[in-house]
Amino acid sequence: MARGGREHWGSRVGFILAAAGSAVGLGNIWRFPYYTGVNGGAVFVMVYILCVILLGFPLMFAELSLGRRTQKNAVGAFLSVKPHSPWFLAGSLGVLAGFLILSYYSVVAGWTIGYFIESLLGVFRSFHNATEVANYFKAFSANPVKAVGYHALFMVLCMLIVIRGVKAGIERWSKILMPTLFGILVLSIIRALTLPGSFSGVKFFIFPDFSHFSLDTVFLAMGQAFYSLSLGMGCMITYGSYLSRKSNIPSNGIWIAGLDTMVAFLAGFAIFPAVFAFGLKPEGGPGLVFQTLPNIFRVMPGGVVFAPLFFLLLLIAALTSGISLLEVVTAYFVDEKGWSRKKTVLITGTIIFFMGIPSALSYGKLAKPIVFGKTPFDFVDKLTANYLLPLGSILIAVFVGYIWGRDKASREIMDGAPGFKLAPLWLFLLRYFCPVVVAQILIFGFLSEFTSPAVQAFTKILQRYFIIADIALLGVVAVWTAHFFLRKGRKFSL
Ligand code: TRP
Repeated sequence: MARGGREHWGSRVGFILAAAGSAVGLGNIWRFPYYTGVNGGAVFVMVYILCVILLGFPLMFAELSLGRRTQKNAVGAFLSVKPHSPWFLAGSLGVLAGFLILSYYSVVAGWTIGYFIESLLGVFRSFHNATEVANYFKAFSANPVKAVGYHALFMVLCMLIVIRGVKAGIERWSKILMPTLFGILVLSIIRALTLPGSFSGVKFFIFPDFSHFSLDTVFLAMGQAFYSLSLGMGCMITYGSYLSRKSNIPSNGIWIAGLDTMVAFLAGFAIFPAVFAFGLKPEGGPGLVFQTLPNIFRVMPGGVVFAPLFFLLLLIAALTSGISLLEVVTAYFVDEKGWSRKKTVLITGTIIFFMGIPSALSYGKLAKPIVFGKTPFDFVDKLTANYLLPLGSILIAVFVGYIWGRDKASREIMDGAPGFKLAPLWLFLLRYFCPVVVAQILIFGFLSEFTSPAVQAFTKILQRYFIIADIALLGVVAVWTAHFFLRKGRKFSL
């Protein structure tokens, strides 16, 4: 079914690094550590890992299989399995999400370029106290020339890589950037852990604290798992479409999710020990990375070197994710509209740049609730993370589980992985577990829009019932799995 001339990954390592590069992004470095810190430490990590295994793996396998089978982009994959049906719209939703996510992701990524350059110039050394650092961030993000300029620069970097194609662009750069990222991460961890007083940060990060654990935590962990693994918008369909028949989907998928989770976890060890060693408070969101950390670099021994290194780490993480988002959009126009790669990247990259301008101005001139009561930045962020990605995930799970169907899907995943005995379990999770559970994320995302006490009370009650239902569902999965292994006397193998 492969169309002649479609590019393929040059090597297995290249593919894994590119896909892990897509997954490892800003979400891993500031969102995951922060969520873990404020949601009960190790408890959150355990729930998160469960989400990756029960929801992340099934969807990751589904996207990769669909991509490899059809050798098509997000829309084309649906069209070639189910022509003349509205299912292609599920793929269109993904392409739309690609445009939207990259438009605001690039703004934050732009800040990392700005901070990288300014830390190289030694700007953070010149501050005297935390207020100056905080004011600096406010002035920096509100400055329209810097915000839009660095956003433009990041888009240009993504375009330069994607324009070269899959092998010479995405794969080649991932093979350079990802090892660099791991290296910087390890250096940062060593630096943070050798600071006096760093242990309280380790404690904050990893010791379970059940008093900070609530049902919200569970839903937060689910949403974070999708976002972090780049699922729900056809990113892995697109990357999977450059795989050859021989590739082993389950083992590749486990590598990708494993690397992603490892980086998220390690980022916590680079950040919190340092935060606590200097007696600061862990803060969420951009504040942690752009206000708290510069404060540390200001006084930390070796800060002159570690400040630019850390922002380079963030930039690399953002860049390998940014190129994957641009590739989703690019592959669509190249496959479906027959445009050349060069033309597509130039046009779509420019459109995304313009779409991102309101987000870039959201911390300055447009810091007003002008789109459905939100700043443009928050609106796009919420729209994609709370609605488009969960919806996309449900549609992909239903499509692969029911429309493409059990037989074809399991034949596909076993192709290249003949020893994969878990295909029935995979399909079971995909058909019965994922759609039901992800629908809950959608519902709670929607309910969180309303701040009235009545709605919040209702949300709390609903959460309780849903969790009970989920646990019951988990019980069914467990019984089913036990039955499957006992009856067939199968051995666990991939
Ligand atoms: N996974 C990336 C992060 O953790 C962001 C990202 C890149 C993404 N591509 C995606 C999220 C596709 C959802 C879908 O920052």
